Parts: sequence; C-alpha cells; structure tokens
Amino acid sequence: MKIVEVAAGKPYPVYIGGGLNDRAGVLAALRYSPRKLALVMDRNVASLFGARAEASFSAAGFRVEKYVFEPGEDSKSFEELSRLLEFLAEREYGRNDLLAALGGGVTGDLTGFAASVYQRGCEYIQLPTTLLAAVDSSVGGKTAVNMRAGKNLAGAFWQPSLVICDCDAFATLPARELSCGAAECVKYSMIGNPALLGLLAGDAVPLRWEEIVERCVIQKAAVVALDERDTDARQILNFGHTIGHAIEHLSKFKVLHGEAVAMGMMVMTRAAEQMGFCAPGISSALAGALSAFDLPTDCPYPADALASHAFTDKKRRGDEITLILPRAVGECELYPATVNELREIIRMGLGE
Ligand SMILES: NC(=O)c1ccc[n+]([C@@H]2O[C@H](COP(=O)([O-])OP(=O)(O)OC[C@H]3O[C@@H](n4cnc5c(N)ncnc54)[C@H](O)[C@@H]3O)[C@@H](O)[C@H]2O)c1
Ligand SMILES: [Zn+2]
Repeated sequence: MKIVEVAAGKPYPVYIGGGLNDRAGVLAALRYSPRKLALVMDRNVASLFGARAEASFSAAGFRVEKYVFEPGEDSKSFEELSRLLEFLAEREYGRNDLLAALGGGVTGDLTGFAASVYQRGCEYIQLPTTLLAAVDSSVGGKTAVNMRAGKNLAGAFWQPSLVICDCDAFATLPARELSCGAAECVKYSMIGNPALLGLLAGDAVPLRWEEIVERCVIQKAAVVALDERDTDARQILNFGHTIGHAIEHLSKFKVLHGEAVAMGMMVMTRAAEQMGFCAPGISSALAGALSAFDLPTDCPYPADALASHAFTDKKRRGDEITLILPRAVGECELYPATVNELREIIRMGLGE
C-alpha cells in the first residue's frame, strides 16, 4: 500500500493499493472512533462493492446506512443532493457523523457537496472506484452539482478527511471508462512526471496501477497544496482541457471527457512544436501513450468552431484565456492568449 499526504489547509492521507475495500473500516478507524456512517454509492457500485465495504466498516464498529442512487451524470443534481440531505436529517446524523463516497466522480462530487453543507459542514471519506476518481476527482476537495445552465455550477471547496483507493476496483471498469481515466494519467505525466509516460505506454500497465495512481496523486496533491482554491497554479491541471471541453460540447458529449482531453492535449502539443515552444517529437511520445489506451489523437473539429467555443469557457478572464503548453514531457507552462492568438494556435495544432 502507498500513502500520499495532501497538505491542504486540512491535511489528509490518500491510501492506494489492492484489497483496500476490505480494509476501509480498519483504515477509517485509525482516524475516527466508531460513529454513524452514510455509505453513498450508485446502483452499479452498490452491487459490485457495496456489501464488502459495508461489512468492512461495520466490522470496525461504524454504524453503516446505505444511500443508493441511479448511476450517471444526471444524479449530480440539486434533486439528488436534496434527497441525500433529507436522508441524513431523517436519520438524525450529527456533525460528527461521517459520509463515505464509494464510486466514481459523480458519487464523490455529490457526497462532498452534501458534506460541505450538511449542518454547515461535516467530514467525508472518498473511496474512488473509477480510475478518473482515483487520480482526479477524489483528491483536491472540489465538489459540485450541475445546473441547467451548465456542469458543476454550484459547489464548494471542501476537502475529504481521508481517501482510500482500492486499485482492484478498476478490473470491472468498462474499457472506455478505464481509457478516460488513463487520459488524465497521461496529463499528469505531461505536466510533471516524464517517467510516468513510459509506464503508461508500457505493456505491464494492469499490474502497475498502484504505482501509476500514486504518481498521479502526488502530482495532484502538490498542485492542490500550492493553490487549494484553484486561482493560479492549479490551472496547470487544465492541460488539454480548454480544447477538450470544446470538443465535448461540439460532439454533444458523444466524445467522452477523457477522449476529448486526449485530443486537446494533442492539439496543444502539436501547436507547441510548431511554435518552437518545445522540441519536435513530443507529440509522438504523447500519441504513443494515448494509443496504448485506444484514446483518439486526431481532432475532427475545425479551429474556428473550437476557438469560439473555447472562448466561452468559464476559465476565460476578460479578453484572455490561459492555455497550457508543453515545454517538454513533464513540463508545461501557462500561456495567456487572446482570441485571435487562440485561433492561430489551434490552427497550428490541427495543421490547418
Ligand atoms: N471534483 C473534481 O475535482 C472532479 C475532477 C474530474 C471530474 N469530476 C467529475 O467526475 C465525474 C465523472 O466521474 P467518473 O468518470 O468516475 O463517472 P461516474 O461516477 O459516473 O462513474 C462512471 C460509471 O462507472 C460505474 N462504475 C464506477 N466504478 C466502477 C467499477 N469499479 N467497475 C464498474 N463500473 C464502475 C458507475 O456506476 C458509472 O456508471 C463528472 O461528473 C466530473 O464532473 C470531478
Ligand atoms: Zn479532466
């Protein structure tokens, strides 16, 4: 088992390893005396891992009550949030009781937001079961639900008190979900860990998840420690995401987030090569790692459409948008661009 400490305002450990679903209760008991624990999960995760997680927490003395909701992004809603809060109130949860999010990013975001507002804030544990949740959403304390006007528009920064990641869970993930998580791992390698790119492009990936997740979490934790509330340094985590979000929208979400980020990273990297911002050859190293997970490397949308969409991105500040460009594998820089520059950069990235 690996342990990564997240030095947020309220520091917490991330445990990463195999078989941790069965040890979750023991690990939680290191931090908490027995108390009530609401185990929040979607229906898929409940049937795959719910019984063992419940048994593990119960054996460690926690009084477990399960809250199960419908899988999918639609559950990241005010309606589901309200049902979860009512569930806690009806069962007389107090501020010292615990919430535990067992599942993917949807479960983590919903549970974290509920924890941030229930009785003005109570503690919660993240138990990620998707690769994306393990390397991204379970660490850093961004919580949210979606609004009609857009994704993640209502939320809070609210750090978990503990993250327990059982890498064995990835074995049941659909291939496309695993690939989408891998796109974020590739992102971490590009922004700060060149050796990780080799690990990801190698043959032994299924055997090395513990190490891969550890490296990604170390990276995310470092950025979170510098910029807990996403004002500056944390922007580096958006590598590939400005174009990625535009692609997701243009495809009406048929292209999944990780796939869109893969294309976005390729566009930015090819552009950086053209601009002389980085040495040639970096895009082929990137493409090699992405292809190992059957992730797309070519973007089917034209620069004009991507640029106009990208400029509506919430990350825009006035007339400028901050892009992330690679200098080398493992080193990216913030690059503020105007709308005209952005269009030109995307054109270069697409070879238009
Ligand atoms: N808070 C953050 O910092 C942050 C960062 C990135 C993404 N997100 C959010 O995360 C969400 C996406 O997360 P996700 O991709 O994990 O989606 P998800 O939670 O919907 O999970 C994807 C699907 O996989 C199923 N599943 C989960 N674990 C499984 C397993 N081990 N085996 C088989 N099936 C399993 C789920 O039931 C679901 O159907 C989005 O809402 C996004 O906005 C948040
Ligand atoms: Zn992402």
